[in-house]
Amino acid sequence: MKLYHSPASPFVRKVMVLLNEAKATDRVTLVPAMGTPLDPGSMPVDRNPLGKIPALERPDGPTLYDSRVITRYLDDLLHAGLYPAAPHLWDTLVIEATGDGIAEAAVLMRYEMHVRPEATRSPDWAGAQWQKIARALAALEERWMSHLSGPVDMGQVAVGAALGYLDFRHSERNWRNNRPALANWFATYADRPAMQATAPT
Ligand code: BEZ
Repeated sequence: MKLYHSPASPFVRKVMVLLNEAKATDRVTLVPAMGTPLDPGSMPVDRNPLGKIPALERPDGPTLYDSRVITRYLDDLLHAGLYPAAPHLWDTLVIEATGDGIAEAAVLMRYEMHVRPEATRSPDWAGAQWQKIARALAALEERWMSHLSGPVDMGQVAVGAALGYLDFRHSERNWRNNRPALANWFATYADRPAMQATAPT
């Protein structure tokens, strides 16, 4: 299988963490893909009409996207066990959606302030994205710490990838301020071999 990949993408990182946790990185060939909303560059627009990564090309079916579809597929194929049975599944999925939402807002902020022509950038718009992130971090801190501290699942993987991206691209925002439980959890989670092997570059 071919995985369209960038080492900076938090969504690609989710897939790579799953593959590392399942000890199955040899099941995919990485295809470098780079581009922006202004220029799709080498993004796989013929495989994913949205021109986004990750995208997973399979020998026996249509290319899969987005990250949540790919992780569900790989979890099933590899018996990775990162999606529990219902009713715990609903918690895992909402935490995964929260991590993905943080990552999405953080990537949009990056595009706004570094890819858009300088004259058209909106710090207010980027600030509004940060407010989304702040609310999501507060929800994790207030509601989901006991789940995050349980058995590893895709909720944890998504939150780990999102927090890693905040450190990578938005460290000046100090997301750890007033979030001691989440900061403490991430200090331990980020030490997992699957996280160490996939740090963004
Ligand atoms: C980044 O460079 O921040 C980035 C690259 C690919 C996807 C998302 C973010």
